[in-house]
Amino acid sequence: MSGFEARWLDLREPADMAARDPELLEAAAAYLSARPNALAVDLGCGTGSTLRTLGPLVPGLNWRLVDNDPALLAEAERRRPPGSSVETLLADLGDLDALELRPARLATASALFDLASRDFVARLAGRLAREGIGLYAALSYDGTIVFDVPHAEDAAMVALFNAHQRSDKGLGPALGPDAGAALADELAGQGLDVRTASSPWRLDGGMSGLQTKFVEGMATAVRETGELAEAAIAAWLDARLAVVESSGCRVGHLDVLALPR
Ligand SMILES: C[S@@+](CC[C@H](N)C(=O)[O-])C[C@H]1O[C@@H](n2cnc3c(N)ncnc32)[C@H](O)[C@@H]1O
Repeated sequence: MSGFEARWLDLREPADMAARDPELLEAAAAYLSARPNALAVDLGCGTGSTLRTLGPLVPGLNWRLVDNDPALLAEAERRRPPGSSVETLLADLGDLDALELRPARLATASALFDLASRDFVARLAGRLAREGIGLYAALSYDGTIVFDVPHAEDAAMVALFNAHQRSDKGLGPALGPDAGAALADELAGQGLDVRTASSPWRLDGGMSGLQTKFVEGMATAVRETGELAEAAIAAWLDARLAVVESSGCRVGHLDVLALPR
């Protein structure tokens, strides 16, 4: 178990799909479409959200889905589109040297790199450049959360949530909010042609289920830091839960597309 439940990933998928920058998504699809029968390797695939988003734009695309969570990988396998060419691979991305990327033309990932360290991102960028593989990395959290209805503890909650985001999630000290920028920097440093675009979640009352899980997750993370009194966290959470159906929030992300020149 990676700690990511299929139920949580399902809840966020519609918001993720709406948030992904359309130009970078189309550019990734065009890059693959120009290379018939190409292979895309999805890193930290979960149940296959990137396949479901990018796959329909590139007929004939082959996939290798990689995750270290057997339950999510089994779910990705179960959900694979009929007639599609999908191979699943149970592997720890931390063991990057052992990970088979070839003959992929593009590596993909979504909501992954904020979990990873700068060292991991640098090593991956080096491998991609050496092997002539591009990267489409969507939805790295950028540290910004703005609620329509403000609360006095918002700033403290967001700051502590962001601090928690930097803890080690298995791939070294996590970049958290710095992931998208660090990724772009490392990939550009390796000579790839890098484009970035903002891809925020815009959650409204119609996404109260996702908002509920999101603010509950924030509260849990802030509790784990031990830096804010329980009464303050509980009061903030109560106030947030009271308005999930009548208001919304914006959660910032960055998409990155890096292609060999
Ligand atoms: C936030 S989820 C995103 C899943 C999917 N990309 C999506 O957008 O729905 C992060 C994914 O990365 C996987 N993951 C985290 N650390 C990993 C590691 N060290 N090796 C392989 N997969 C990992 C998790 O199991 C999970 O599926």
